[in-house]
Amino acid sequence: MRPVHAGARILFVGDVVGASGRRTLFAVLPRLRERHRLDFVVVNGENAAAGRGITSKIARELLAAGVDVITLGNHTYSHHEVYAFLDSEDRILRPANFLKSQPGHGICVVEHDGVRLGVVSLSGNLFMNASLPAFSEADAALYSLRDRVDHILVDMHGEATSEKIGLGWYLDGRVPAVVGTHTHVPTADARVLPGGTAYITDVGMTGARGGVIGVKRELAIESMLTRMPIRFEPSDEDPWLQGVLIVAGPEPLRAASIDRVEEPFQG
Ligand SMILES: [Fe+2]
Ligand SMILES: [Fe+2]
Repeated sequence: MRPVHAGARILFVGDVVGASGRRTLFAVLPRLRERHRLDFVVVNGENAAAGRGITSKIARELLAAGVDVITLGNHTYSHHEVYAFLDSEDRILRPANFLKSQPGHGICVVEHDGVRLGVVSLSGNLFMNASLPAFSEADAALYSLRDRVDHILVDMHGEATSEKIGLGWYLDGRVPAVVGTHTHVPTADARVLPGGTAYITDVGMTGARGGVIGVKRELAIESMLTRMPIRFEPSDEDPWLQGVLIVAGPEPLRAASIDRVEEPFQG
């Protein structure tokens, strides 16, 4: 067993979009695991089922492929079928600041070689549909994880860059990692903040770069041109995995580094 607060190498993967995103994750993960000697893999899966939400079958496939924790977001409840699974499976998280009455939970703890990682899913409040305030629910999540984790990763699923940056500063020095998701476009601000929190405003997505944030581009453009409802389908063109590698520890609640990871389906 490693000592408490031993370092942990964590891959966080941005929103997996549709079948091409899943195929890319499954193809790329083994080589990333070997290259980066990963201890934990956390994946945002809110677009894994044809671009909207996730099913229990797909969630099981992700977990079976070696994903330790799945986080979600505003598309959590697109498939009624998954609600019971959200309640029964510890390692799939919907935002902790959804209502307590909504299915699922927003916090879990996973362990690898004696090192315990707490994961917290949060949703922004600006332009998003979360009912409870993200910042105070983050405080509550950290309180509930006290004394039972060595590291904590927070996925802040939000539209507004300002809100995600604000949460990064709010939690700086209190958790090793705050990563942003939802916009599907990676930002160029990955860094370890002065208090020791690894931070990025958005890690990007895992899916087709040939589309419009994962959607077939001709459908997205048609909807913008015509202003009429269009049924979106995920693109398959030029899929990539986008994420970040965070080295947490060895100091408690501190990260040593955060680096963006971009890997094509064909390595
Ligand atoms: Fe997404
Ligand atoms: Fe989202």
